Amino acid sequence: MNEGLRSSGANDSFIGRRTLGVENHFNPCKGVHVGKRHTWFRRNVKSFAFMVVLMIFVFLLDSLMVSVFSSIKFHRISNERNSNGGEGDSVAYVHEERSTVEMYSRLLNSASSALTKEEFKQDSLKFWEEPSREASKWKPCADKRYPTSLGKPEESNGYIMVSANGGLNQQRVAICNAVALASLLNATLVLPKFLYSNVWKDPSQFGDIYQEDYFMSMLKDDIHIVRELPPHLKSLDVEAIGSLITDADIPKEAKPNDYVGTVLPLLMKNKVVHFLGFGNRLGFDPLPSDLQRLRCKFGSTTARRFRSREFLRRDYVARGSSKYLALHLRFEEDMVAYSLCDFGGGEYEKKELETYREMHFPLLIERLKNSKPVSPAELRKLGRCPLTPEEAVLVLAALGFKHGTYIYLAGSRIYGGSYRMRPFTSLYPNLVTKETLLTPIELAPFQNFSSQLAALDFIACATSDVFAMTDSGSQLSSLVSGFRTYYGDGHAPTLRPNKRRLAAIFSENSSIGWNTLEDRIRKMIEEGQRVRVRGSGRSIYRQPRCPECMCRS
Ligand SMILES: *[C@@H]1O[C@H](CO)[C@@H](O)[C@H](O)[C@H]1NC(C)=O
Ligand SMILES: *[C@@H]1O[C@H](CO)[C@@H](O)[C@H](O)[C@H]1NC(C)=O
Ligand SMILES: *[C@@H]1O[C@H](CO)[C@@H](O)[C@H](O)[C@H]1NC(C)=O
Repeated sequence: MNEGLRSSGANDSFIGRRTLGVENHFNPCKGVHVGKRHTWFRRNVKSFAFMVVLMIFVFLLDSLMVSVFSSIKFHRISNERNSNGGEGDSVAYVHEERSTVEMYSRLLNSASSALTKEEFKQDSLKFWEEPSREASKWKPCADKRYPTSLGKPEESNGYIMVSANGGLNQQRVAICNAVALASLLNATLVLPKFLYSNVWKDPSQFGDIYQEDYFMSMLKDDIHIVRELPPHLKSLDVEAIGSLITDADIPKEAKPNDYVGTVLPLLMKNKVVHFLGFGNRLGFDPLPSDLQRLRCKFGSTTARRFRSREFLRRDYVARGSSKYLALHLRFEEDMVAYSLCDFGGGEYEKKELETYREMHFPLLIERLKNSKPVSPAELRKLGRCPLTPEEAVLVLAALGFKHGTYIYLAGSRIYGGSYRMRPFTSLYPNLVTKETLLTPIELAPFQNFSSQLAALDFIACATSDVFAMTDSGSQLSSLVSGFRTYYGDGHAPTLRPNKRRLAAIFSENSSIGWNTLEDRIRKMIEEGQRVRVRGSGRSIYRQPRCPECMCRS
């Protein structure tokens, strides 16, 4: 999997560099508005300002990502880059060879002419703003002290160790849950560790991404935290004494009682338990509100240091008056292959995805053999298919975002690479990724650390003027949208399409008129922006509008 993802990543950096660097900025004749030198000039100033802003903003990260720069050996990375480059080129070539993807070519033409018309209108697009005033009535208040707060236990029942798995965002959820759990069990938390995974290949530890001291001081009134186990426990073989708890030992979304029943006795007996993995192992409801609040506190406080950067950025942006939209387009090969959907790439695509599944998802293949097949068309109708770059760009165009809109593309290992992104980049050429914003040398320190790269994306999305996602089930998208709800003060809009409704709209691709499409897509997005209070069982990270996290004034 890694090969494929890495090489398409290399393609993507090619896209951005071409569109941002050459065509659009230094060669006005190739730009879309020939003869409009004036606009072109303004555009350049803006884009320059935008790049400066983002660069400064990204540079500031080193305070967040303590010790990253110092720990990296420089020459090894330049080697890595070189070999990557070669690989990327050959893959790009293969992609050029395949037959054209025919998805929505008529609609894309309509979108293109709609954008040309819009270009001369004033920019009064409402989707840069949160539609409802109601949104700004909710204020963050997880930090507030309550008379009922549990406070630190007088006596600790033992030590909890956590080795979180997954990528940056899953790890973050695991830590939030571990904090709540330490409080529930009156336990002392050992600073969390991150498991090394063969998928993410990132050796970063907690201290590489978060500030340990800050973490400890922020929770000092709530739970005991230590850096390491005391020596007499360190020498124990945790597995041999039965204190190693894996995800198989605890149900998903477990309830507090599950922990009190199974984990507490172990903790009391052995004075230490070690959670290995710990993905999604604490449900949202029912949970005593003090624990919920604590969880919310960590979830938001970790993110808080991102926030000072937001102010900085806003400050620069105010001067340069440039806005940007961040898009989390989830169209990575693994996800695309797993979905079993059809993405308009014909036989070539079918074979490629089939091969990928055989290599990476043997269990899925096994399951398919024993079950009734669901057709790709049916899957699409059910809203189970990841949005393609074509679909994502149609949504943005239907919402009225202008041709010159600056778009930060998060993730960016798009299946099909620059080839697949072509319809997108021709409608929105000012597309950047972290790879195109930063030079290879600037990027090098992060290159091997997927969690740190993911943190760059998190920050760029969290602080964007408007954030658009294509998959509301994604961990990054939901943490980012929760962060924006929490800190956005009602001015951090998130655009969240409903895949099932979108599938219904796009199924009329050969007949639907552009105006009708616009109306229906706008309605869908507006409904997704209604201010709602978190429903029972829903994630507080995605939807922090609930009494434990936010207060309604
Ligand atoms: C934790 O400590 C509090 C008092 O500080 C006590 O009321 C509660 O029962 C304890 N819970 C456990 C699981 O030990
Ligand atoms: C990055 O990863 C590659 C491949 O795993 C390795 O060869 C290289 O030494 C690594 N570079 C750094 C700086 O760790
Ligand atoms: C586009 O329209 C055609 C004809 O109505 C239909 O067969 C096809 O499934 C549609 N494509 C998608 C992706 O819905």
